[in-house]
Amino acid sequence: MSDFDPQQYRQESVEQWEAASAGWARRAEQMQRFAGPVAEALLGALALTPGQRVLDLAAGTGDIGLEAARRVAPGGSVVIADQAEGMLRGARERAERLGVQNVELKRVDAEWIDLPLGSVDAIACRFGLMLMADPAAALAECRRVLRSGGRVALAVWDTPARNPWASAPAMVLAERGLMEIPAPEPGGFRPGMFALADADGLAERLRDAGFTEVAVQPVSLARVHEDFEDFWETSLDMSPGFHDAVMSCPSTEIEQIREAVAAALTPFTTAEGSLEIPASALVASAEA
Ligand SMILES: C[S@@+](CC[C@H](N)C(=O)[O-])C[C@H]1O[C@@H](n2cnc3c(N)ncnc32)[C@H](O)[C@@H]1O
Repeated sequence: MSDFDPQQYRQESVEQWEAASAGWARRAEQMQRFAGPVAEALLGALALTPGQRVLDLAAGTGDIGLEAARRVAPGGSVVIADQAEGMLRGARERAERLGVQNVELKRVDAEWIDLPLGSVDAIACRFGLMLMADPAAALAECRRVLRSGGRVALAVWDTPARNPWASAPAMVLAERGLMEIPAPEPGGFRPGMFALADADGLAERLRDAGFTEVAVQPVSLARVHEDFEDFWETSLDMSPGFHDAVMSCPSTEIEQIREAVAAALTPFTTAEGSLEIPASALVASAEA
């Protein structure tokens, strides 16, 4: 029987992402470069036009929403929405720095979207859905707030094997009993980075929520770091689960973990000593 408590998970998720938000704000441009191909795929699938109203859901520091705002101008606007106030602060600072005015920052839980029925033309959600306690509820909410014929585009992480930048450190922690890699539960769902890493399953979820014209495609990207130290610091800054597991250890064990992760990533070291680690996302799009 599952010991997953959705309510406790939701609370912990907000706390973890609030704690990670300063690191995300600091590294916003780094994330933008890394996940740029996914942003392009999502925005391409939405085919935004001036005047439209867009929701960037689970927006983090607003990468997608800020670019969407540029594409729907003049006359259009974007709601940059996240559960974590810290992420919204980061997005607000970026919007001010870039002089983007047609955005609204809003604290939103994706499972209960506080927007009226049929009030947006398009929704983007990058690397958020698989982290939600109840993705079916979030998809139903997306469909409710989209106008008829509006489009959703979302990205989740592909399989662990296609994302060694995340799975290699997770394996090191799992081997030490510091992180659980939940096995898929028949008929159940456990949120996590790879929880929706199945293209057919993702398409089915969208159809079950009432979406049509469903398409899912893989998008390749790469984590590039000048050296392992940069990878390690970035991971601690941006991956709350990794951060908390590592930081719960005494300093001697942290050093052992660091060495084990470095060894696991050695195959991705270039001749110049930098790291280039492959990554893959699944980008899904559909019509309401
Ligand atoms: C991996 S980050 C991705 C951020 C951003 N979309 C990007 O791609 O740069 C995941 C984000 O999802 C948000 N999130 C997770 N569950 C959420 C929920 N139920 N409602 C709203 N936001 C949520 C987190 O607060 C965090 O900012």
